[in-house]
Amino acid sequence: KGKRAFIAGVADDNGYGWAIAKSLAAAGAEILLGTWVPALNIFESSLRRGKFDESRALPDGSLMEITKVYPLDAVFDNLEDVPEDIKSNKRYAGSSKWTVQEVAESVKEDFGSIDILVHSLANGPEVTKPLLETSRKGYLAALSASSYSYVSLLKHFLPIINPGGSSISLTYIASERIIPGYGGGMSSAKAALESDTRVLAFEAGRKRKIRVNTISAGPLRSRAAKAIGFIDMMIDYSIANAPLQKELSAEEVGNAAAFLSSPLASAITGTVLYVDNGLNAMGVGV
Ligand code: NAI
Repeated sequence: KGKRAFIAGVADDNGYGWAIAKSLAAAGAEILLGTWVPALNIFESSLRRGKFDESRALPDGSLMEITKVYPLDAVFDNLEDVPEDIKSNKRYAGSSKWTVQEVAESVKEDFGSIDILVHSLANGPEVTKPLLETSRKGYLAALSASSYSYVSLLKHFLPIINPGGSSISLTYIASERIIPGYGGGMSSAKAALESDTRVLAFEAGRKRKIRVNTISAGPLRSRAAKAIGFIDMMIDYSIANAPLQKELSAEEVGNAAAFLSSPLASAITGTVLYVDNGLNAMGVGV
């Protein structure tokens, strides 16, 4: 029987989440998406108007079907967490049931269970500031949106992930090496996400036989990456210095995610898998 995947963090066709959805769809999975509430309207209307049809094309010529798009804001676990100004914000008031717990409940109601959970989201309001200039509020916001959001998603979805299922997040090498410009506590957030990948692999493995891995991806010109401001330089740097001197495509990360989600990876859990043309292995740029 086909597997069902829930992919959190898709709001256009440029990012890793979209590419992962396509690779999973190409492998036969049913696709459910979680889209950030403020980006939901434009994403759904673009989908309806056929703006993504070209990029929905799968290798066999068919178009990726998206069974359902759920509004999601992964910094809120349940309604009690949501402050008044967000509740009354008109972009949020137009949707409902978008906290992590409510989304998991809705997916359970609609489909009963899933097999694959993907976290492809991050946000650091002060990402352009060096760590030394980052406020406590900005740092904690980066951790909340980029790290705890994953703990929360896995916690709430775990009861409905079928045994043998798998969960994946996306990380970046700034967690372990100095990448000037990846600021605002985002490097710290990725370090937390990678450490949590190991602990969650243990807990979810013992509890439900679920595998937990993260992909350390190379640079991609996504919407989020463009907001950081140095993405073109990182892409050029990688092409100049990595063992494989080519631009990384989102599809290559999508394919690695499909592998990790498949029975081919049935003994792989708790790992950080580099999908970066090998750049992580270099000691100096040459
Ligand atoms: P993207 O812009 O396609 O994806 C980020 C998504 O997060 C967006 O759809 C945004 O709406 C969503 N989001 C932000 N805050 C949210 C919240 N509170 N609740 C729900 N959704 C929220 O960009 P990209 O780059 O594909 O990012 C996906 C993942 O890949 C992130 O974890 C990112 O850190 C990681 N990554 C990206 C790299 C790159 O060069 N683009 C390199 C390595 C990792």
